[in-house]
Amino acid sequence: MITIREVGTRDGIQSLGAFIDTAHKLELLEALADTGLKRIEATSFVNPRAVPQMADAAEVMARVRRRDGVSYEALEPNVRGAQAALAASVDAILVVLTASEAFNQKNVRMSVEASLAQFAEIKLLADVRHVACIGAIGTAFGCPYEGDIPESRLFALVERFLDMGFSELMLADTTGMANPVQIEQTMGRVLQRWGDRVAFGLHLHNTRGMGLANVVAGLQAGVTTFDASVAGIGGCPFAPQAAGNISTEDTVHMLQEMGIETGIDLERLIQVARLAQKILGRELPGQVMKAGPRWQLHAA
Ligand code: COA
Ligand code: ZN
Repeated sequence: MITIREVGTRDGIQSLGAFIDTAHKLELLEALADTGLKRIEATSFVNPRAVPQMADAAEVMARVRRRDGVSYEALEPNVRGAQAALAASVDAILVVLTASEAFNQKNVRMSVEASLAQFAEIKLLADVRHVACIGAIGTAFGCPYEGDIPESRLFALVERFLDMGFSELMLADTTGMANPVQIEQTMGRVLQRWGDRVAFGLHLHNTRGMGLANVVAGLQAGVTTFDASVAGIGGCPFAPQAAGNISTEDTVHMLQEMGIETGIDLERLIQVARLAQKILGRELPGQVMKAGPRWQLHAA
């Protein structure tokens, strides 16, 4: 069984120009929860001047009709955001830094060390409230400013999260720079070293068309959790030419064809991808919603 964490209403929507109404975000979130997805990164608690699309984070969490058994998670870069997220009763907090110093400065205007100091405090706050706290390391497989990220630097950061008591980490290919060999080798080493103590997931972008190939590489290494964005919406506003995350429905379709269970109703998910196109008013990158699933045949 593979777990898909939906990130469309956060990573997907955060970089879009025109503000998406809260009501539309709620419509998407509720439709997504009806597909069988068990984990949804609904929003982020960040400086609204840095990311105007996420200015309604508290309202989204207050108004969303929560489906039993679904974890509504949110991203935070600092203590201030984590406090707001806890006040909004999120089910899990995801704290994010990047392996690249230059990217971290651009993204959250602090050093990697300063981010880690924030997370130590956040972890304590979350533990007291018995709220899950997930670590995320962006630009883990390459940075658009610094280039290659030495594996030693990535591994040292993993150790730092472990020292703070984190037991779940997402490794993110923020701008789609990873290739399948790299993913399989790095994740193989990561799981071999820490797999018994930490649950690792992959957050992949399809910036250069390697997204689904990287999912397969991750599967081969033993990764069981993948982030994805419905209709493939998305991209980081702090990355040049950032493109969408891997599309949730394309990922589920591929896994299903490979005989791998996700617990997600693909037909429903395709409807949500089409709903996302309608709400955003333009064509989105997801492919299966256009071509239809492989088993849907056409009249000869
Ligand atoms: N939520 C809401 N407001 C916040 C906040 C948060 N988590 N953290 C800080 N702020 C507010 C402060 O209160 C302050 O407001 P004021 O000017 O009205 O007093 C203002 O933002 C500046 O605070 P400061 O601590 O100086 O932050 P900054 O301007 O250096 O920005 C971050 C740092 C981390 C808050 C900001 O860069 C950010 O939100 N980045 C998120 C980037 C992101 O979401 N990237 C995509 C996901 S990886
Ligand atoms: Zn991302």
